[in-house]
Amino acid sequence: MDGNLEALFRPKSIAVIGASEKPGKIGYAVMKNLVEYGYDGKIYPINIKGVEIEINGRKFKSYRSILDVPDEIDMAVIVVPAKFVPQVVEEAGKKGVKVLPIISSGFGELGEEGKKVERQIVEIAHKYGMRILGPNIFGVVYTPAKMNATFGPTDVMPGSLALISQSGALGIALMGWTILEKVGLSAVVSVGNKSDIDDADLLEFFKTDDNTKAILIYMEGVKDGRRFMEVAKEVSKEKPIIIIKAGRSERGAKAAASHTGSLAGADSIYTAAFKQSGVLRALTIGEAFDWARTLSNLPEPEGENLVILTNGGGIGVMATDAAEEEGLHLYDDLDELRVFANHMPPFGSYKNPVDLTGMAGAESYEGAVRDALANPNMHSIAVLYCQTAVLDPRDLAKIVIREYNESGRKKPLVVAIVGGIEAKEAIDMLNEEGIPAYPEPERAIKALAALYRWSRWKARQRRE
Ligand code: ACO
Repeated sequence: MDGNLEALFRPKSIAVIGASEKPGKIGYAVMKNLVEYGYDGKIYPINIKGVEIEINGRKFKSYRSILDVPDEIDMAVIVVPAKFVPQVVEEAGKKGVKVLPIISSGFGELGEEGKKVERQIVEIAHKYGMRILGPNIFGVVYTPAKMNATFGPTDVMPGSLALISQSGALGIALMGWTILEKVGLSAVVSVGNKSDIDDADLLEFFKTDDNTKAILIYMEGVKDGRRFMEVAKEVSKEKPIIIIKAGRSERGAKAAASHTGSLAGADSIYTAAFKQSGVLRALTIGEAFDWARTLSNLPEPEGENLVILTNGGGIGVMATDAAEEEGLHLYDDLDELRVFANHMPPFGSYKNPVDLTGMAGAESYEGAVRDALANPNMHSIAVLYCQTAVLDPRDLAKIVIREYNESGRKKPLVVAIVGGIEAKEAIDMLNEEGIPAYPEPERAIKALAALYRWSRWKARQRRE
């Protein structure tokens, strides 16, 4: 069945069953996203009335049935009302389609009757060797193939994080949020009711996908917990997995049951199982993406020695507190740290956190960042900056980008810039370059700590 997952992310041709010529309908939005995001495989709209569909001046002839298409079809996105789904699944099977993302709602989430139909369509699909994604989903994106088969936002920023969401509305919202926050994605997968393809199948795909470095899952529940944990453990040995598992409280769990039909299970069991499998559990969306930036972009540290470079004593202290709380070790070999004295006035402090002082300008940061990157005993770096009139934060961003790239990106480096509009622009510049940057020092340190936690877990696995 591996080929089916391959077809979900790199289909050579896509049919949209229920494609519409009317803007505002989901069957139109999916067509529009496919075209606008630049998918260059073949697109075949299927519309029972055989209407012509025009997207940005490009005209598509539609077929009344998928069986009429004079070509092979790898993936068929289904956007017809639930009552027509069994029939179009049967036709897709006859056509030899490999995978079916079913956007339509109105199945298992409605109760027993819906579950029965859901099982039926899975049976039909399996009879023909097809796999189903969904139903009750917003679609799938794979940025390396320039494929956006969703009715969510169009301009997903390409990157190395795969995002899997069990919630539709939240998943769509997060897609938009990642664009705003400059989080680069390799894939977005809406799993909805998980009637067939589930998180474990997707993890197996992403484990060997060269375009994905980390995986973030919003989850309400898993159907086969044992398999999920086994697969998650194997994948965690290669790539980090971050999970937001909702339904922690008793009442939250009940809400999850009526939302996606998930049996949430006792939360403590999930916590223990995640820990054992090397999965990093985030409690909020913000925390999950903070970690994801670091985990999907940075190499693992080769040792425990963290160096904090700052122009402000205050944020240096706050970052140090966060580092202590998170079990990170501040490097304290004064003989080696003395090198930073070259980049500060006499009243600066080269003790870690290294205080370059409020006078620190471009040269100070450039020299300090370069020395920290070059020293093999300094294993990870946090560059902190409080915006002053001495150095435009965007210039600092340029320095960090250049120095980090020239060093070959061999050790983790995170940035926190506290300030106004220019600080925000500098943060965006860094994130666009895959250098995790945050508006608060603690967030940078905690994200680095997540990378350390995963890396240490991996090292323990190798020893055991
Ligand atoms: N074969 C081919 N085309 C067909 C067929 C068929 N068997 N049956 C209908 N069509 C055509 C229709 O003619 C229509 O095209 P038209 O606009 O040119 O007339 C198109 O397919 C769609 O059919 P409609 O009956 O108009 O259905 P509509 O677009 O209103 O709704 C949908 C379909 C979107 C699948 C709806 O039933 C549904 O399930 N909506 C919920 C989707 C959803 O929210 N999913 C979860 C996402 S995540 C979240 O929560 C945000």
